[in-house]
Amino acid sequence: MDINKEYEEIREMAARFADSEVAPLADKIDKEKKIPQELIVKLVENGFLGIFVPEEYGGSGMDYVSYAIIVEEISRACASTGVFISAHCSLGTWPILNFGTEEQKKKYLPKLASGEMIGCFSLSEPNAGSDAGSLTTFAEDKGDHWELNGVKNWITNGSEAGLAIVFAKTTKTPNYKGISAFIVETDLPGYSIIKVEDKLGIRGSSTTQVALDKVKIPKENQLGPHEKGFRVAMATLDGGRIGIAAQANGIAEAAFRYAKYYVKERVQFGKPLADLQAVQFKIADMSTRINASRHLILYSSYLKDVDRPYSLEGAQAKLFASESAMWITTNAIQLCGGNGFTTEYPVERYFRDAKITEIYEGTSEVQRIVIAANELK
Ligand code: CAA
Repeated sequence: MDINKEYEEIREMAARFADSEVAPLADKIDKEKKIPQELIVKLVENGFLGIFVPEEYGGSGMDYVSYAIIVEEISRACASTGVFISAHCSLGTWPILNFGTEEQKKKYLPKLASGEMIGCFSLSEPNAGSDAGSLTTFAEDKGDHWELNGVKNWITNGSEAGLAIVFAKTTKTPNYKGISAFIVETDLPGYSIIKVEDKLGIRGSSTTQVALDKVKIPKENQLGPHEKGFRVAMATLDGGRIGIAAQANGIAEAAFRYAKYYVKERVQFGKPLADLQAVQFKIADMSTRINASRHLILYSSYLKDVDRPYSLEGAQAKLFASESAMWITTNAIQLCGGNGFTTEYPVERYFRDAKITEIYEGTSEVQRIVIAANELK
């Protein structure tokens, strides 16, 4: 149950869409490693690509709690589609909404909300993952424009993106100081995808590596204050992490529902598995973890909506929901036994999809760094 009627209706609307339009395609999306264009069109029609973009910029004008609910429900049907929405909204769109000039908002938000441009986030590099501040991509001031050179990787939505939020040093320093953020249109000369990753899970979601070779960025496309780009990245990830927590909980819920169905149907030792206390205890623990994750997700989203600090709570939501999703999907396979290990049953996909939630937008170890830093300051 959600905290009020309005959010219940949003969950029902998202769940209806997820069950009728997304779930039937999930297996195909996983196997063909692509979200069909027709589904992306339906995401746009339902306002899912502009969830928290204000209506004046062509968005749905909803809040972050609604965003988390929608991402959770869509991810329950298909984790690849869930992260497509999540990365586009929280990583590709939110930084413009929060740090952009009025001109940048007017130019890009309507395109992002309408799906004319898909958004992505380019922070990581081959030698700068968890230590994001050590990135080396460089933006040189050429007077009337910036010239961008470097290599970026682990870019969710990289194949579809028309717009990337790119982080680069504008002064050469070994740490996070001197990083600035830029809005980069991906059809600019010198911007090229050099690798599309082949992954264990979320196989329908594209993950790319990109080379930036003398890409000319207009001066007006610098995003946020000069050399405060690391703050832009960290603030963006604070919200993005709630989206990944919601994705993780959607995957966990899908595995949980299947496990419940299976243990009631499957008869061994003359009775359904559900009659065994060892099984009941697993079901109880799964249910508790999912509800606890949901509370952390909704609470951190609420704090964000009312402009209160939420870095700690967002990191806790991501840490707990992702580790729970891994535990729940592992145990869903265990409850389904040999059947669960085969590709005929959906739980193996949930298990494969859950793993990345402990890694991207900050590993579980990074979440613990953020939580401890907040608690000990
Ligand atoms: N909001 C705003 N500013 C913040 C902040 C926050 N939540 N957290 C830190 N900052 C600021 C600090 O105030 C400080 O700035 P000033 O010096 O100007 O005050 C600056 O950032 C540095 O802070 P720290 O000393 O805490 O930074 P650090 O270098 O020790 O790094 C870290 C800390 C938590 C490990 C950080 O590097 C981090 O989050 N790393 C993980 C990066 C990550 O999540 N990468 C995923 C990329 S996206 C992805 O996965 C792909 C995708 O497409 C989905």
